[in-house]
Amino acid sequence: MSDSIRWGILGTGGIARTFTTDLRAAGLEVAAVGSRSTESAEAFAAEFDVPRAHGSYEELAADPDVDVVYVASPHPFHAEHALMMIAAGKHVLIEKAFTVNAAQAERIAEAAREAGVAVIEAMWTRFLPHMVRIREIIAAGTLGDVRTVLAEHDQDLPDDPAHRVNDLALGGGALLDLGIYPVSFAIDMLGLPTRILAHSTMSATGADRQTAIIFEHEGGRQSVSHSALDAAGRVGAQVIGTDARIEIDPWWYGATGFRVVAPGGEVLEEYTDTVESRGMQYEALEMERVIRAGEHTSPLMPIEQSVAIMHVLDRIREQIGLVYPGEQGSVS
Ligand SMILES: NC(=O)c1ccc[n+]([C@@H]2O[C@H](COP(=O)([O-])OP(=O)(O)OC[C@H]3O[C@@H](n4cnc5c(N)ncnc54)[C@H](OP(=O)(O)O)[C@@H]3O)[C@@H](O)[C@H]2O)c1
Repeated sequence: MSDSIRWGILGTGGIARTFTTDLRAAGLEVAAVGSRSTESAEAFAAEFDVPRAHGSYEELAADPDVDVVYVASPHPFHAEHALMMIAAGKHVLIEKAFTVNAAQAERIAEAAREAGVAVIEAMWTRFLPHMVRIREIIAAGTLGDVRTVLAEHDQDLPDDPAHRVNDLALGGGALLDLGIYPVSFAIDMLGLPTRILAHSTMSATGADRQTAIIFEHEGGRQSVSHSALDAAGRVGAQVIGTDARIEIDPWWYGATGFRVVAPGGEVLEEYTDTVESRGMQYEALEMERVIRAGEHTSPLMPIEQSVAIMHVLDRIREQIGLVYPGEQGSVS
């Protein structure tokens, strides 16, 4: 009997396709796909050679031959879809942003605890080889005292008001789509913020089109991040310590290279990217390790930190005045 872990894919959109491509290339077992429509499920199954196509998410949840579900719907639906899968006893890997607000994130964490299933936020950056190496370098003390994180995620995305990134009903806005990466990175490097200062400019749909965030972290450390939907930037990042800094190449949040640079400019280490795919299999492989080990989440992206990050995002949204449908005037 095979001991392979059987993946189910929830949703057939852009990132579900990329994720499934990487899983197949890495030799992982994609057993089923679920879609709101039978046609989409069947087309996806045919294209990616997936054995079972379900024409509803409920059918995917009821599939006994699925162990873990990758939730790839727009973020306002992550909680509903993750809770449906958890209730069916599935482990879940949930796309970023984990949810729209902290209240939803708390509900997922509680349900997972009660059901005894594993949950990881699919913040794929955390699992990529260059990030693993960066954490090793920092742990070894090469940077000295890490004082500052600078990270930018500016893209030129469609300005169609009905597009997911602009429509509030689909979780639109730079913060939850793009800003989540530098926010999560800063917290990974420096811990949760002790002070938050945020400012956005809004688009006509009410979604934030640009958001700038300053965090103060313990010990007077700072991180500065910027995200934008309306103009493409370099998408670089730096981690700056008293003895050296790390300069991460664009796009810093995907598989890429970096240099460790001394204050005087001498390159102490050069890391070259060798990942041939987009690199989404690393989060899936970590999910498989967590399931096999009987753990409830990953130390690289613990569910407790995903919940804490949603609280931070709620506080940012209070400052920038970003309220999603159904939140009735205040976040959460
Ligand atoms: N990790 C990354 O690099 C990355 C990149 C892009 C996006 N994402 C995240 O992944 C999620 C999906 O993004 P995407 O770009 O793949 O979006 P997308 O192309 O619009 O696809 C979303 C899919 O979700 C399903 N869905 C369920 N309820 C829906 C609803 N009410 N309206 C629209 N679609 C609905 C649909 O699948 P069915 O029709 O088959 O049910 C749809 O194809 C978002 O949370 C986003 O932040 C992550």
